[in-house]
Amino acid sequence: MSQYNNLLFEVNNGIGTITLNRPKALNALNCELLTELNNLLDVILKDQSIQIVIVTGSGEKSFVAGADITEMKDMSAIEGRNWGKFGQSVFEKLESLPQPVIAAVNGFALGGGCELAMACDIRIVSEKAKFGQPEVTLGITPGFAGTQRLPRLVGKGRAKELLYTGDVIDAQEAYRIGLANKVVPAEELMPAAIALAEKIKSRAAVAVQLCKAAVNKGLNMDLESGVAYEAEVFGLCFATADQKEGMTAFVEKRKAAFTGK
Ligand code: CAA
Repeated sequence: MSQYNNLLFEVNNGIGTITLNRPKALNALNCELLTELNNLLDVILKDQSIQIVIVTGSGEKSFVAGADITEMKDMSAIEGRNWGKFGQSVFEKLESLPQPVIAAVNGFALGGGCELAMACDIRIVSEKAKFGQPEVTLGITPGFAGTQRLPRLVGKGRAKELLYTGDVIDAQEAYRIGLANKVVPAEELMPAAIALAEKIKSRAAVAVQLCKAAVNKGLNMDLESGVAYEAEVFGLCFATADQKEGMTAFVEKRKAAFTGK
């Protein structure tokens, strides 16, 4: 029996798939679900046999329809702030996992759902997906870092329009503005996410993880510091067996056999 009431988790061939599984509420993020996700991320963080993570939602309709409105309805200001801080910390943990994380967005990604997708590294989305930050229609701002990650992904002007109107956009529009990396037919969503995971998995794992760290850290630094950080991770790669193998294979005109070491 699963140890989680609101999540499914399986690992196949080094790919860990987290399915948010609260279909009665369109996978809305309540406290129990977020606590379970927080705990699962601690497990994934320590298990480097999991090389890539995919995050998706159960059912055909929804990735995540936001934070749970019934739970938030009667919150005080302090409770709201603490709930926001908790959600932010879980998404920060997801974003900082050493392993690459792919969101397979199967339907509604609204509010906290859009914020969850944005905390993932790459978003592959079904043509049925819908994105938005509808918080202003509920009398709140986004609380799980949507005001910060959305402008970093789509630019300040487009982010402000989405945030001020609460408009919901379709998959093609999300792709056009850079919120989605790729749009695929619904039935091809998981195969496309797995194919991308397999491709990333075939590369030198330490180098991939260091690319992730350099991009994430660099975006919070000035250019000079980010470039200096890159020099450090670049140097670190030369201490890996995969760097020796990758470059030797090139010189010997053969395919590299990476070991992740
Ligand atoms: N919280 C709690 N329950 C939710 C929910 C949410 N965010 N979203 C959907 N549900 C529940 C509905 O209440 C409904 O439950 P019942 O069957 O018990 O009535 C069930 O899921 C199915 O939803 P609908 O009947 O509404 O389905 P629909 O197809 O008519 O509409 C929808 C789908 C457009 C996604 C609509 O459910 C909706 O607008 N949901 C809320 C979206 C939203 O505003 N999200 C932002 C939340 S605030 C936030 O996330 C803050 C933050 O940044 C942390």
